Amino acid sequence: MIRMENVVKRYNELIALDHFSFAAKEGEIIGLLGPNGCGKTTAINCMLSLLTFDKGEIEIFGQQVHPNNNAVKSRIGIVPQELAIFDKLNVYENIDFYCGLYVTDRKKRKALVEEAIEFVDLGKYRKFVPKKLSGGLKRRLNIACGIAHKPALLFMDEPTVAVDAQSRNFILEGIRKMKAQGTTIIYTTHYLEEAEQLCDRMVIMDSGRNIASGTVHELQNTISTQERIEVGFITEDQTIEAQLEELPHVVKVTKRNGNYLIHFEKQENNLPDLIKFMESRGMSYTELSSERSTLSDIFLELTGKELRD
Ligand SMILES: Nc1ncnc2c1ncn2[C@@H]1O[C@H](COP(=O)(O)OP(=O)(O)O)[C@@H](O)[C@H]1O
Ligand SMILES: [Mg+2]
Repeated sequence: MIRMENVVKRYNELIALDHFSFAAKEGEIIGLLGPNGCGKTTAINCMLSLLTFDKGEIEIFGQQVHPNNNAVKSRIGIVPQELAIFDKLNVYENIDFYCGLYVTDRKKRKALVEEAIEFVDLGKYRKFVPKKLSGGLKRRLNIACGIAHKPALLFMDEPTVAVDAQSRNFILEGIRKMKAQGTTIIYTTHYLEEAEQLCDRMVIMDSGRNIASGTVHELQNTISTQERIEVGFITEDQTIEAQLEELPHVVKVTKRNGNYLIHFEKQENNLPDLIKFMESRGMSYTELSSERSTLSDIFLELTGKELRD
């Protein structure tokens, strides 16, 4: 669907995209993930040829995109990061305007606008102008404007920022429905949990570069810590840390809330091995819990930086 190869985009001295490459296949939800300023929006704007770039190649549907290539543009939907809705138009008219850029047949368009209104559940608000809508409802309108013409490829740039929990879940559910209908979706976010739940594959971005990409599982396998087990002991003993480090497959031992956090390099059998080990040494524990490494661990290990929700 998309192929982006070694794209460089500069804003004067600042390199916003630094030999950025990326590909998306039909029907998948791809997450572009990274902190604010890492280049997500710039990457999307280059793909859409809303921005020119200094170097590299971009193809969508196997063609180079030009600003005036309407055949390609009509198959693409955009839900931009900044709301792109008209204050003077009501909900229905806003959606109708965007849909009308691609669908000229009035009867067909009416049906599509109605479907989009239903999709984002704004039926009650169809006559409302944007300033009468809450932040979450405005986001939903922004989405309806991007999807009404039923694009095969949809770009959504941080659609859940500053959205209440209810609208957020609604939006995420809608994205899953669109995927089920066969839409390919490029989704940017700096919320790791959201990406983990939603995306088939992820591209981790930092300073305009593609640091790593793959499924969560593939990304997990690229880092050394696969599982962490937290243990609390009844009595504090100076030798505990050193003893735990003797266990096979331990990467390191750290402290968390007065407990020990044992980082393991593989996932299987760590817990039973640890229990046997502690029993053999007479170490009495009060608490024991295991967790798989998360996207936030992956991000930290790959970039050396924290990326918090
Ligand atoms: N029009 C612009 N002029 C100059 N710098 C820009 C412009 N747009 C974005 N940038 C810079 O480019 C970098 C990438 O920005 P952006 O793509 O918006 O990141 P993200 O969407 O990941 O938050 C940032 O450092 C940002 O400040
Ligand atoms: Mg952005």
